[in-house]
Amino acid sequence: MRAKTLAMAMVSSATAIAHANIALVKYWGKRNQPGNYPAVPSLSLTLDRLQTETQVAFDDQLSNDELLLGGVPADGKQLERVTRLLDAVRAKHGLHLRARVISRNNFPTASGLASSASGFAALALAATAAAAGDYSVPDVSALARAASASAARSVLGGWAQLDVGAEAAEPVEAAALDVALLIAVTDKGQKAVSSTAGMNLSSSTSPVYPTWLQQGPSLFLVAKQALRDGNFAALGQAMEQSTWLMHSTMLTTVPALIYLAPASLQIIKSVQTWRGSGIPAYFTTDAGPHVKVLTHPEHAADLKQRLLAIEGVLDVIVCAPGPAAAVTEQHNQAGCP
Ligand code: PMV
Repeated sequence: MRAKTLAMAMVSSATAIAHANIALVKYWGKRNQPGNYPAVPSLSLTLDRLQTETQVAFDDQLSNDELLLGGVPADGKQLERVTRLLDAVRAKHGLHLRARVISRNNFPTASGLASSASGFAALALAATAAAAGDYSVPDVSALARAASASAARSVLGGWAQLDVGAEAAEPVEAAALDVALLIAVTDKGQKAVSSTAGMNLSSSTSPVYPTWLQQGPSLFLVAKQALRDGNFAALGQAMEQSTWLMHSTMLTTVPALIYLAPASLQIIKSVQTWRGSGIPAYFTTDAGPHVKVLTHPEHAADLKQRLLAIEGVLDVIVCAPGPAAAVTEQHNQAGCP
């Protein structure tokens, strides 16, 4: 009897890999409209070393969506966000099958290392491939954006932008610019306040938030021009300015959002000192304590050793620009979904 049930089971599955991205010009705050649109434009670099692999299997034997994150069953808010994305795909195809989602990061989850970016980009791509739909890159990016705005950028490789009000991320025109991004991991714990909760609180309580909204577009233009010109120093300066403005907004939120740790500040001060001595290095941080250092590849090995010597630095991951999200396995059973 069981064998018969299995033989009749209809499963349509796909696996996708997406890489995390780090924003140089930051997104923090949403537009006051449904659909999860950022209130400021952002510009990012997708990274080769941080990746999420996600398998989605629509299965007629399931009565609910299931989520396995890093081998551990997940429920509550995490599962709800996944179900919301799957519902958007199901609605498009008139599909009623539930799905099993198995997702794995090769780096710490929810700690300011952009796991939601790679996670929702991989999920959007795997879900659309499992549904055997006809989706363009902007379609997949828009689906990912609705779940996590930074994820829209991870659907693309290399330099990507997400403009205010845009449905999807777009590639950024860039001159040849050799970059490496070093991630100084300072703490493997999960962040106390999620990005979504934090930015919503910032927009409603921080007196600096209006300035942030006003400055975002001009920093975005400066960074885009710097990329077009291949002007590394101008790009690094815009990145640091965007980082400090975002953290000013966070720190003036009520209650204050303090994502930086003592080690983060120590790294930032060291980067300033090293730059003063002629090493091309610029920092950024996100909603977590890790510090990312942008440099040229020929300085990566030296900077890695310098960073590892700072107290509180647990690891340094040296990244290069990473590829676009890609489907690695697809099995669409006839008539399913
Ligand atoms: O897309 P979310 O909800 O993960 O928010 C990302 C926010 C930052 O990482 C702090 C900045 C950014 O643009 O990635």
